[in-house]
This record gives sequence, C-alpha cells and structure tokens, in this order.
Amino acid sequence: MPPEIDGYLARTFWHCVAHRSELPNDRDFLRLEWILGDLILYNDMGTIIAFDNICPHRGNRFLPEHEGNAPLSCTYHGWGYRGGKLRIPKPDSYKPCDLKRVRLNSFHTAWCGDFLFVAIAPRTDLATQLGGLADILTGMSHDISRRHARIGYPYECQWRVAVENALEPDHVPFVHSDTLGSLQLKPGHNAYYERNSVLNAPIGNERIKRGLNRISRFFDVQHNEKSYIAIFIFPFSFLSSTFGYTYSLQNFFPSRNGRHTHFTTRMFHSRLTSTGENEAIIKPFLAGVEKLNSQVFQEDSEICKNISPDFPLDGMNSILSTTEEKIAHFRKCIEDIKKEQSPSHTAHA
Ligand code: FES
Ligand SMILES: [Fe+2]
Repeated sequence: MPPEIDGYLARTFWHCVAHRSELPNDRDFLRLEWILGDLILYNDMGTIIAFDNICPHRGNRFLPEHEGNAPLSCTYHGWGYRGGKLRIPKPDSYKPCDLKRVRLNSFHTAWCGDFLFVAIAPRTDLATQLGGLADILTGMSHDISRRHARIGYPYECQWRVAVENALEPDHVPFVHSDTLGSLQLKPGHNAYYERNSVLNAPIGNERIKRGLNRISRFFDVQHNEKSYIAIFIFPFSFLSSTFGYTYSLQNFFPSRNGRHTHFTTRMFHSRLTSTGENEAIIKPFLAGVEKLNSQVFQEDSEICKNISPDFPLDGMNSILSTTEEKIAHFRKCIEDIKKEQSPSHTAHA
C-alpha cells in the first residue's frame, strides 16, 4: 500500500503534464499512469480536457494506448464524448434520472504559458502554487516548438526516491560519469519559489560549451541562459534544459503499489531559426540529445532501484551535504503537508 500522503499530493496539487504542442489536433490524446489510475489528456474539438479514462456506464477504459488520435468512444456499448457532452446511444433505454447523474470524471485544467497543468481538488490556484516560477515556465513554454521524443517506464522504487535523486547533483560524477557527468557542471545556484526549486549550473567542460555556443544560431532561444537548468515543480515534475535548445519534462508519479514510480519524460526542442530549419543540420544534434537523455534516465532508474526500500525517507536528521539542500527543502514541504493532514491540525483549523 502506498503512504496516504501520495494520494493526497496527487489530489491536492497542480501537476505539469504536457506542452500544448503535444495535442495540436482534434482527438489527439496522451495517457499517463499514476496512483489514481489513468490520466487522459484529450483534445475535444480544440479544448484540452483531462479525465480518468473510465467510461461512466460500466467502467471500460476508453483509450488503452499511451498516445494517439482517436474518437472518445467506448468499445463496450458505444457511449461517447464529443464537444463537452456525453453521447449515449439509445438514451430512451435508460431512466431519465439516471442519465442526469452521469458524467465523465473530468479534472481541472489550467495553462502556464503553453504548459498544461491538471488538478483534482487543488488547494490554491495554479499561480499561487507556482509563485514566481510561473513567469519562468511561461517564457520557456513559449520558446518550445514541438516534441521530439517520449519515453515512459516504471522506476522500481518509491517516487520520493526518484524525486530526491533528481534534486541533487552530487551523484552525477558517479552515476552518470560518461553521460551527464561529461558536462562537468559547476556547483551553480539554487533558487526557491514556494515549494518549487530551480538549479542553475554553469557548464564546466569548455569543449562542450564551445560546441553548444557554435550551434546557438540554429535555435531562437528567448527565455533561457547558457547553462544547465533543472526546475522542480513540486511535487512530481521536473523541467530541465541545456542552453534552452532542448527541454525534458519529467513526471515521477506515485503508483498504487507504493514500490513503483510511473516515470515519463518528453523531450522538446525550441523554435528553430531559418538557419536551423535545415533539418540535416539539426537532426543529428536532436538524436544525440535524445540518446544521451535516455541513457541518463536509465542510469538514474538503476541507482534508484538499488536504494533500499527500508531506508527512512522521513528522517529529517539524515546527513545531507550542502549541495543536497533541495532535498531538505523537499522533505520539509512533505512534513508540513503531512501535519496539515493530521487530525490535530483539523481540530484546530
Ligand atoms: S462501459 Fe462504456 S459503454 Fe458500457
Ligand atoms: Fe541523475
């Protein structure tokens, strides 16, 4: 069984789940998995909706694939959804009062620039949850042109292990020695926006930096710096980028069995200049980044699998380095939210 806090966080926070460019056409959809089952993002005649993938008639899943373009039509008895309304064949065969009650189990959606956020019973509006991060994410979302790749598989660890791993740079030279480690990131600077955090770290490898500077004329980057940036969007998501040329949006969603993490990453690239539109130039670069990212996440998933599930994640007294300070911040946020949930807090509220 997963800890109670996992479902509570899933229900009460906004989650960054997609970029607008992933669902451009009517009937485009994405399916993500999390502790609450499936999360479908669907383009319903130009409006992006989010719902739980469960047909309200008798529970059949509407969309089994991870993504695609399909009508929202149940394969069991033909119930459908279109233009904001359920479409039910032979409505006269049901009692009118029953039909009045029936609805798709849809979730709240909100945009931060071109990033789509989803929430079920949010404690605040999205802007309040994001604090000053909203402006940063909006700018980056406008730089992104389109998605290049998607990877998804389970991490064999609790989601908090995966998030804490992504929150600290100390493991990079050990776990990613031939991949991310080759950037030779300098210590960088952490900034905090409510429960969210941002690492901005200069690249120390001069040869790689020169190479990245050489291709700057191909990308129309307006909202990023010439460094490595990793943004933690509390509680389950990250957005990272090198020089703003490409972005990786990662979700580390808790699972129902508590020992797995539903991991998905989408890689995007920024708008190209007219020079960059020459595909022959840009294609090998994007393929290289895709391969590197995929190796990095494999390495992370391997080390996370090796972390003992018996090691206490709630230990506020853990020994953490100064560069692991974002983990301390994350744990404090979780502890504060747990206190809000406790009966004594409710009694005084
Ligand atoms: S379960 Fe979907 S139409 Fe019956
Ligand atoms: Fe890592």
